[in-house]
Amino acid sequence: MEKDIQIIPSLLSIDIKNLKKSISSIPSYIKILHLDVMDGHFVDNITFGPHFVKVVRELTSRELDCHLMIEEPDRYYDRFIDAGATHISFHIETTKDTFSLIKKIKKRKVKVGIVLNPETEVDRIVPYLDHIDYVLVMSVHPGFAGQKFLNYTLRKVKRLKDLRGKREYFIQIDGGINDKTGKKAIKAGAQWLVSGSYIFKGDIKKNVERILNG
Ligand code: DX5
Ligand code: ZN
Repeated sequence: MEKDIQIIPSLLSIDIKNLKKSISSIPSYIKILHLDVMDGHFVDNITFGPHFVKVVRELTSRELDCHLMIEEPDRYYDRFIDAGATHISFHIETTKDTFSLIKKIKKRKVKVGIVLNPETEVDRIVPYLDHIDYVLVMSVHPGFAGQKFLNYTLRKVKRLKDLRGKREYFIQIDGGINDKTGKKAIKAGAQWLVSGSYIFKGDIKKNVERILNG
């Protein structure tokens, strides 16, 4: 098992009625939580904004990874950092001046990631690979939890692994991750596995272990 493998629960599937209790039942060795921000424009769903991130920030000292599925990430990223995000990822499909956005996010001393939709090719982000902390490969079409894993996205994970060389970016994968698909993703080279509906259905600790042990 690669030592860098991290399971990152997506709070989109957490029991929001019992948020405090649910967060406290996440195993303590989980270091990062994933927050899916959707605006109803870039994706066909609306979730939450900085206020919710702030509430989560008050409930945990873990790292908070905000996945911005929004138009104009340039206009909003700052508010999520103010709310407590430690990681900001934005979709390459939404940016005009990508270098400038990377620079601005890094200036705030948080980690920066670029996200690729299932049909967006790795070539599109090669110029930025020296400047970012992680790449998120979407393994479902963004917008909803509980969708089926798209196997064809694994070739992009492999390509990113081959391209890495001396660079230090992590490869994150998000969508449809369970004990079976997680194993395939790890084999292809993914290090950070985001999982929502699988983790939060039943025993969280056991589900995390099942993903790790395939
Ligand atoms: C989908 C989100 C995912 C989602 C994953 O647009 O980016 O983070 O919460 O949920 P599952 O693991 O159920 O596919
Ligand atoms: Zn996500």
